[in-house]
Amino acid sequence: MCGIIGYTGDGRREAAPILIAGLGRLEYRGYDSAGLALQTEHDLVTRKLAGRVAGLQALLARSPVHGATGIAHTRWATHGAPTTRNAHPHVDCRERIALVHNGIIENADALRSALEGTGHTFGTETDTETLVHLIEDSPGDTLEARVIAALGHVVGTYGIAVMSADEPGKIVVARQGSPVLLGIGEDEYFVASDASAILEHTRSVVHLDDGDIAVLTPDAYHVIDRESHVQLRAVNDVTWDLDAIELNGYAHFMQKEIAEQPDTVRSTLRGRLVLDEGIARLNGLNLSPTECAAIRRITIVACGTSWHAGLVGRHIIEALSQIPVTVEYASEYRYRRQLAQPGTLTIAISQSGETADTLEAMRAARAAGSRVIGLVNVVGSTIARESDGGIYLHAGPEIGVASTKAFTSQITALGLLGLYLGNEHGLPLEERQELACRLAQLPTLVARTLELEPQVRVLAEQFAHAPNALYLGRGVNFPVALEGALKLKEISYIHAEGYPAAEMKHGPIALIDANMPVIFVAPADEVYAKVVSNMQEVRARGGRIVAITTEGNGDLGTLADHQLRVPATASLLSPILTVIPLQLLAYHVAVLRGCDVDRPRNLAKSVTVE
Ligand code: AGP
Repeated sequence: MCGIIGYTGDGRREAAPILIAGLGRLEYRGYDSAGLALQTEHDLVTRKLAGRVAGLQALLARSPVHGATGIAHTRWATHGAPTTRNAHPHVDCRERIALVHNGIIENADALRSALEGTGHTFGTETDTETLVHLIEDSPGDTLEARVIAALGHVVGTYGIAVMSADEPGKIVVARQGSPVLLGIGEDEYFVASDASAILEHTRSVVHLDDGDIAVLTPDAYHVIDRESHVQLRAVNDVTWDLDAIELNGYAHFMQKEIAEQPDTVRSTLRGRLVLDEGIARLNGLNLSPTECAAIRRITIVACGTSWHAGLVGRHIIEALSQIPVTVEYASEYRYRRQLAQPGTLTIAISQSGETADTLEAMRAARAAGSRVIGLVNVVGSTIARESDGGIYLHAGPEIGVASTKAFTSQITALGLLGLYLGNEHGLPLEERQELACRLAQLPTLVARTLELEPQVRVLAEQFAHAPNALYLGRGVNFPVALEGALKLKEISYIHAEGYPAAEMKHGPIALIDANMPVIFVAPADEVYAKVVSNMQEVRARGGRIVAITTEGNGDLGTLADHQLRVPATASLLSPILTVIPLQLLAYHVAVLRGCDVDRPRNLAKSVTVE
């Protein structure tokens, strides 16, 4: 999952600074190497290197390139090591065509040996380079005709931008599986993997669909299909501001996004709760009361943190609507044989709305006759556009690779969905009003939970050099243990495991000694007493215990070495509060270990390849 950007203008503006600034905003998508190519008077000039966009900017300062049309790329390496040689853009044998790509070409090896067989010389180990040689080899009077001809041989996913030295000012774009949008300016046009890269220039964007080819020139753009028939695509307005993607004084986006959660939970709830009737208003769901009442089972498909939110969602939906819920790893579900069962609703949970496995799992569920809804943060993303209905989180752009505010908003949205389904499946008014009231209190309680930060920072100093960590929880807070472990793993590189507390006795208890921090998620709920006995088992083996428990819950005494107390709320909603100290702990441990919190190694924000 790389980031691509392109610009073509009438010459009033230089392309290079626009591309570099946009690339910087796309860096959360991959940061192994960066590069750009510009059209100069008669040629294409490329600059690229292994490493960050800042390095490319410095390279350009040393050897500047001028031109009003260019393409650029920041890479997350899949095929070929993260080296300067493998960095994009890639050029053809005569260096007349340049290309940047986000995705994976599955039949690259076969294409490469065929092209090498006809005399093409390859300079990299990447799958992408086959595309530019294929275009060089393809018939057609125009670049777009040659791109269409070339793509006819390709199996895989791609979002590409292509330029030729022989067609000044033109950029050809194609989409199959990877997100690509166009930016509409005045006598200038943009292409990008997402809107954050071009927002400072325009709010008007066109989302491309799979199979679309777009042709940009300084004075116009059009979209065609593979038969060159013109396709009409809506121009949408981006609603969020640049501010949302600035650090605004925070040291890291993750820190900012953790601190934003009182507001982001509030905006997920905004206009969706009717307290006195105890109902949720979810207009985008596109599920009539009759259709809702006909739901017999629910399948949730997701990956990573979104999968953890799905596990919490199962508890909420089953408790409020009595509809059985299964939660599936999307990457596993998509290759399993789907059993067509009438009355099945599939929920695809994804912050980015572009995660390839979740998208394909959603498509597989639909193919098996299921209705599909999306629970998504990024407006206009593919999962949002392809689902039958859905719920937008309205949590604003999430830039930090480690997901935080999206998780608490996902659970908030699942609370609303539970209320909505419960209302159609006989949940009594009092219970609905109670839960609606508890949902409405969440922003204040989240703000209060964030006040634990100073205590968490002290704790982080004690755990910053721990080799491992174990997170334990029960019931609706078992997924929080998984999430806490994932946060610590992905940004501090400390090996951590989340486990159901009772399951610990069946193996992981062997890991426990005085060096093993054991973090218990133990709010005062219906399984609290059971969690306390698990704590006693850990204490008996000399483990170091941190307990996330509830304000006013006094009876842990000396059982835990450290206690962090979150405000009380409905137990189904408690994960929204209990996860916050774990987000903060991972953040401060990573900072103390000098890790790159927003750009953790080997990771990227949106996984658009399989
Ligand atoms: C979480 O911190 C990770 N960035 C990752 O596990 C993420 O949750 C996963 O890739 C799913 O992303 P999505 O919600 O955008 O689909």
